[in-house]
Amino acid sequence: MDPEVLLKVARKFGTPVYVYDEDQIRKNYRTFLSAIKSRYKNTRIRYALKANPSLAVCHILRQEDSGVDVVSEGELLTALKAGIKPKDIIFTNNSKTDKELTAAVDAGVIINLDSLHELYRLKKTIKDKKKSAKVSFRVNLAVDPKTHPKIATGLRESKFGIHLEGGLAFKAYGVAKGVKGLGITGVHTHIGSQITELGVFSETTEKIMEFACQLREELGIKLEFIDLGGGLGIPYMGENVPTPEAYAEAITSVVNGFKKRLGYEPELWLEPGRYIVGNAGVLLCRITGVKETPYKKFVNVDAGFNVLMRPAMYDSYHRVEVLNRVGDEATETYDVVGNICESGDVLAKGRRLPKVSEGDIIAFYDAGAYGFSMSSQYNLRPRPAEILVWGETAEVIRERETFEDLFRHQRVPKDLLK
Ligand SMILES: Cc1ncc(COP(=O)(O)O)c(C=O)c1O
Repeated sequence: MDPEVLLKVARKFGTPVYVYDEDQIRKNYRTFLSAIKSRYKNTRIRYALKANPSLAVCHILRQEDSGVDVVSEGELLTALKAGIKPKDIIFTNNSKTDKELTAAVDAGVIINLDSLHELYRLKKTIKDKKKSAKVSFRVNLAVDPKTHPKIATGLRESKFGIHLEGGLAFKAYGVAKGVKGLGITGVHTHIGSQITELGVFSETTEKIMEFACQLREELGIKLEFIDLGGGLGIPYMGENVPTPEAYAEAITSVVNGFKKRLGYEPELWLEPGRYIVGNAGVLLCRITGVKETPYKKFVNVDAGFNVLMRPAMYDSYHRVEVLNRVGDEATETYDVVGNICESGDVLAKGRRLPKVSEGDIIAFYDAGAYGFSMSSQYNLRPRPAEILVWGETAEVIRERETFEDLFRHQRVPKDLLK
């Protein structure tokens, strides 16, 4: 987005504020989908809503004909509210409550089971409600995604999925096949996020295709879809990452290689989150002051890790730019720090920037994924607004929270008011 447009948004709507570029979201979606579709026609996207669950974003993706991957009842309700069809929603989560299972059954979405005990609880739910359900299993393929340990989900030590190892996943499908009212529709895996090595995706696809063949050959199960999850990385530091074309080739060459042995053509589902919205979002903050200590120069801004969690949580890097000083020479080295009372609240470390002063507007780029969605009210700071920009228009898609919102759900027992 043009720095002038972003400056206008900051002036009009205040800071901190998240700004999303609708055209970029649509472009990312189309680039991703067409890369895969040109190699495997029967492909569907199930956008990972957790990356950015704003209703408006969900509506954009519904218009693009995307389905979604949801991980909670809140996300499920968001997807339904945005008009995504239940058959295009997959409910994944490693610890579903009975209430969540019931909501998923009532909505008629695909329930992606994570364990055998979840299967038994679902069996009881559908029996009690005299309903049926469509299911898949998340399988643990013991693949190292070679990413940050906190976003690696496919390791054999990970909490996610039923292990292929020891025939556990195979057994789960055998059990599910015998449960009245359960329709086995697919198989799922998601090995991690911000993945930049293609070999990891090929290995995953190889293992899951082999498993799909085993299900067909030994249990006679034909799957409607094979879901490889999300995970394609984006270049936060301008580094080289695989293009969607290269990613698509790595996956579909394996899928196509199995076509003959599998004997049928399931849909290929992919759950990109970061790739779709990551570079379409910017966080704008205002500089509240510059502090020079004998050791460092700090730029203080009006947001902290309650607004942008990724640097504190994963040591992640976001490019920054001082929007009202674009083109000025970078003469200073600053740590850009937040307003949270924790020393881990460093948003950008050791950055070369022009000399800044109070009131300057600083942009954190590539903040559209896992930005607002991971924000909190920590230190009792209301969450920021979200703005959607398209053409010449900028519109609020989520109001800035107010102090009232901090107290809305709190109750004080009468005795304490004396
Ligand atoms: C089950 C599942 N699918 C998809 C995704 C999306 O991953 P990414 O945003 O890296 O594409 C995630 C992210 O954690 C996930 O847990």
